[in-house]
Amino acid sequence: MIPINALMHAANRYLDAHAETMGFHGILGGDRNVTIAVRGHGSRDARPIAAHMDECRAGTDLRTADVVDAALAARDDLAWWAPYAEDAPAGAGFFANAAVTTLAGEGAPFASDAGRAGLFYVRAGVEYAPHAHAPREIYAILSGRARYWNEATGWREAGAGDVILTPEHSWHAMKTGSDPVLILWAWTGEGMTIRPHFRDDTGALPPEETK
Ligand SMILES: [Fe+2]
Repeated sequence: MIPINALMHAANRYLDAHAETMGFHGILGGDRNVTIAVRGHGSRDARPIAAHMDECRAGTDLRTADVVDAALAARDDLAWWAPYAEDAPAGAGFFANAAVTTLAGEGAPFASDAGRAGLFYVRAGVEYAPHAHAPREIYAILSGRARYWNEATGWREAGAGDVILTPEHSWHAMKTGSDPVLILWAWTGEGMTIRPHFRDDTGALPPEETK
């Protein structure tokens, strides 16, 4: 099987195996979009960032290792993009150290009527400022540990094998520590083509003790 198809199958199996991802089943698993050129949704080609992704092999879990292997095998066939412009208030280190690819949905290598899904790679020591978007989101963490914030729950730590659900229009943020993270993300619901917006212009994270 060609690497990008193998990744799609591994990621689809992974999402289907989790009860927490129920509302997101079926986003992956669609037909290959052979008629379109794979293109990114972002501001800059982030393949030089994705080139470091082998560092994610170390932080996997028994449940996630095969999806990470499939992602690494397919990495060079995917379009990796910086999701925001360099001057966006996305957080300290974000622009130079985060890369996203879309696997399923509009403009992606696989068709989907149910939503969008892809991979999100964030290197160590990076902040992702509070932002929100209309679609519901899951982060299925495939490798590494990081801290995640949501306006409803405050900060919590999560790692490989965990799934984080973000409701529609909910402020959320994250920061990596000494580990890089690799995340399988999915969106479903309204406003799929509208980009996330930031809570303020500072790019600052909420304090650890505050919701
Ligand atoms: Fe999000």
